[in-house]
Amino acid sequence: MNWKIAVLPGDGIGPEVVAQAQKVVDAVCRKFGHTVEYTFAYVGACAIDRYGNPYPEETHDICMKSDAVLFGAVGDPRYDNDPTSKVRPEQGLLAIRKRLGLYANLRPVETFPSLVDRSPLRKDLVDGADFLCVRELTGGMYFGEKGRKDGGDTAYDTCIYSRAEVERILKLSFEYARRRRGHLTVVDKANVLESSRLWRQIAIEMAPSWPDVQVDYMFVDNAAMQLIRQPKFFDVLVTENTFGDILTDEASCISGSMGLLASASVGAHTSLFEPIHGSYPQAAGKDIANPVAAILSAAMMFEYAFGRMEEGKAIRDAVAASIREGVVTEDLAEAGKPAYKTSEVGSWIAENIK
Ligand code: IPM
Ligand code: MN
Repeated sequence: MNWKIAVLPGDGIGPEVVAQAQKVVDAVCRKFGHTVEYTFAYVGACAIDRYGNPYPEETHDICMKSDAVLFGAVGDPRYDNDPTSKVRPEQGLLAIRKRLGLYANLRPVETFPSLVDRSPLRKDLVDGADFLCVRELTGGMYFGEKGRKDGGDTAYDTCIYSRAEVERILKLSFEYARRRRGHLTVVDKANVLESSRLWRQIAIEMAPSWPDVQVDYMFVDNAAMQLIRQPKFFDVLVTENTFGDILTDEASCISGSMGLLASASVGAHTSLFEPIHGSYPQAAGKDIANPVAAILSAAMMFEYAFGRMEEGKAIRDAVAASIREGVVTEDLAEAGKPAYKTSEVGSWIAENIK
């Protein structure tokens, strides 16, 4: 097969980790007899510098014409401490999600046997945890009406959801639960929020159509606790945009490092694959960032965008081998053992695949 991949490295460590993902994609293609065509494009702060726009039209065109988007990270400290800034790198990510119609963000949480000690949680709690967070990605407070009033001294963001938006994300979640262990947890704040009550009402209506899926409902505050109290309880967890943003950062602790968690964003147009970590500007250019999340995002690209499970598994096996062998960056290196560079980990995994 031949696939067109839009590569959007973005800011900070984005370019370094995406370069490792590309090495791995190339290795998989050589092994399985595929070819890929990469087209690079700007997003985030680097796009603001160049075009004055964090998601330029040119980038959008490239994404629309591609079979998948490999995304690094966006963000720049130049904007973080300036709440008055009209244009921000993060708007690039929100724009790409909205314009590609990527309403579902899939964030799998898995553990690696040799890393259970790196988790801040007790080994017996995390060992074997394996669940999928489905975060709604184009609705809620992120995109609802927002503004200032009273001369700027009052501010508001609106959490708004339509039936159609809720139905499509729940449908996807029921389907994933059916293909996994048949357990879906719908996370909301239905004891307080009207938008949550709509979510819960629709989930209750839909549940009978998936008789093989056991559904439970959990308030988000309780879910935040259960995620660390008993992570093995979860199989598929679905929730709205903001709750999902917060809970998936929390869930990343289970695996031991945020540098391990990959994600896929799927919906109407080209699917996008990105590590869940940010641009980590302190590490940019130092060749120390963990490339595994970006590499596992490439695995998700083969599985979700190209329907190539074997290729995805080849990447996952090589990543697991690198971790088992201690070929890891400094966030995961054991005390007293040398840490590998970002580029060394990427090359090792690519070699291992060949
Ligand atoms: C994420 C990030 C983004 C979000 C930011 C960078 C806009 O935190 O992908 O989780 O909040 O969705
Ligand atoms: Mn986030």
